[in-house]
Amino acid sequence: NASGPLARAESLIAVIPDYPSPGIQFRDITPLLADADAFRAVIDALIAPFAGTFDVVAGVEARGFLLAAAAAIAADTGVVPVRKAGKLPRPAAAVDYALEYGQATIEVHDDLPRGARVLLVDDVLATGGTLAAAHELFTAVGAEVTGTAVLLELEALGGREVLGRVERDIHTVFR
Ligand code: PRP
Repeated sequence: NASGPLARAESLIAVIPDYPSPGIQFRDITPLLADADAFRAVIDALIAPFAGTFDVVAGVEARGFLLAAAAAIAADTGVVPVRKAGKLPRPAAAVDYALEYGQATIEVHDDLPRGARVLLVDDVLATGGTLAAAHELFTAVGAEVTGTAVLLELEALGGREVLGRVERDIHTVFR
């Protein structure tokens, strides 16, 4: 029964009230990541719809790295880190995007083969700003995002609509 391990994995996502600020219900995936069966089940579910459609997995700093690296091993591809500003040592593309308060910048090295097919992975789809910016980054370096896979979608925040402006193929495991 495929839903067994996934249902258990979902139950291992802890909801932390008022973190990091009052009124926010933080979803903590660390108990899920720490459980071998749950971790494997969510990695398999993340990549299942995209079999054979990507050459490399990209993960967004920081929690996205954990999922993207595991997904890459499972799919027998490499992994590319999308980093916060100022962390990459070689020529990189940068995209600025809006946060709830203020602004952020993410970057990726400009060294992917032209037309490389990228599966973009992150832990949470909230407002969609981060993944929309990541999508823009890969377009800027001449790669092609062939899909976006996210562990947890917070549907009330409307991220699917924002990301949907640039991405057709959005898959979320839990919502
Ligand atoms: C969180 C999460 C996503 C992003 C989603 O990252 O891991 O990357 O926010 O939010 P959005 O859809 O509203 O853009 P965070 O910036 O907290 O980074 P971290 O993983 O390093 O904690």
